[in-house]
Amino acid sequence: MSDSPTATAEAKLPKDIAAEMGMVNVQIDGVWHRFPKGTRMIEACRSVKRAVPYYCYHPKLSVPGNCRMCMVQMGMPPRPTPGQEPTRDENGYEPIGWMPRPAISCANTVAENMGIRTTGELIEKCREGVMEFLLINHPLDCPICDQAGECRLQEQSVGYGRGVSRFVDMKVKKPKNVDIGPRIRLDDERCIMCSRCIRFMDEVAGDPVLGFTQRGTHTTLTVHPGRLLDNNYSLNTADICPVGALTSNDFRFQMRVWFLKETPSIDVNCGTGCNITIHTRGNTIHRITPRQNDAVNSNWMPDSHRLNFHYIDGDARLTEPMILEGGIHRAATWPEALTKTTAALSHYAPSEIAIIASARMTNEELFLVRALAGKIGTGAFTTVPREGENDGLLIAADRNPNTTGAKLIWGSENPSAPLASLSAKASAAVP
Ligand code: SF4
Ligand code: SF4
Ligand code: FES
Repeated sequence: MSDSPTATAEAKLPKDIAAEMGMVNVQIDGVWHRFPKGTRMIEACRSVKRAVPYYCYHPKLSVPGNCRMCMVQMGMPPRPTPGQEPTRDENGYEPIGWMPRPAISCANTVAENMGIRTTGELIEKCREGVMEFLLINHPLDCPICDQAGECRLQEQSVGYGRGVSRFVDMKVKKPKNVDIGPRIRLDDERCIMCSRCIRFMDEVAGDPVLGFTQRGTHTTLTVHPGRLLDNNYSLNTADICPVGALTSNDFRFQMRVWFLKETPSIDVNCGTGCNITIHTRGNTIHRITPRQNDAVNSNWMPDSHRLNFHYIDGDARLTEPMILEGGIHRAATWPEALTKTTAALSHYAPSEIAIIASARMTNEELFLVRALAGKIGTGAFTTVPREGENDGLLIAADRNPNTTGAKLIWGSENPSAPLASLSAKASAAVP
């Protein structure tokens, strides 16, 4: 996003050059950059690696500006007196008049010749003050809190806090371990009232079921009367909660996050293909979280898909070849199973053999199915359709993840089309 302008021999002023490109010049911590008009100050800073801490801001949600953690010092050129040309430095920039008070960087956008300071005594004092307020009533739960290790409050209190509490009074008590829905648990004492969860349920999930009650330090997050947080996108609130106030019933207390290895992957529960991160320790999957891809799933994914990984370690999963003998399935080795299959198939003409494959297979597996069919000499191979309801958000009606792969690799518009006639032929062939 940034494109550092330097002194040029051009007669044009930096502001005119930037304006022609739909951009503005902004000085961040002493260095000039160009950004598209309308860029949020926090995003401008982030794009040039000047970290600004924040809690309530989320790029995919509305911006309430309520946590005040993202404060920076802002400056603009002083307005020239009427009839006077503004003064400029040798590079064509106007001098910056720094405001004596801070501004939040999440809710303000950059402007021509703006200055931003992300460090300095004023900013450090502000952050220290915000952290002190946030921690005044916060429980010292970290050793038993499931968020520890990925908690913004924990990280930023180390980075920006005072290190010592001056608060000697009783902390405000709030509900803990509240069952607000089938998959999410709420600890109100840990909530820092950032409202991200409320905005997500309202603006993305379209189910505005969360809200605040009470006022001031007694402000409490809760579900609306008679409602539960039971939406199929509820676990996204645990992802975006910057603290351990909202945790997943499925994952909490299962594993400390610093032991987990993260592997980027794709959800296989439907044709949308949400981008995901698989969190494992050893050979065990402990959780799945959405991975940002703005062209597919933004930052979100449905609960039903993220929790479906449990079948991998489930008892019902077939993990080795089985051979049916005397009405009973017994475990076999792969060489034995393949030898028996080849021998059994050799009794049939190629035209009597069909392959029922799956659009859950990878592209490579689908390619091998086609190659196998060619080797056998049969043109009868198909996938099995799996249809459901499109939820209007991220769950596609096609519950197979790779129908497109089957279409492209098999050169077929409808790879499951042969299934009905193959099924009829098989039924007719059974004596
Ligand atoms: S939410 Fe963060 S700071 Fe609070 S107890 Fe949990 S880990 Fe500690
Ligand atoms: S529960 Fe978490 S996401 Fe919701 S308002 Fe509190 S801190 Fe923010
Ligand atoms: S992130 Fe800007 S006010 Fe919260």
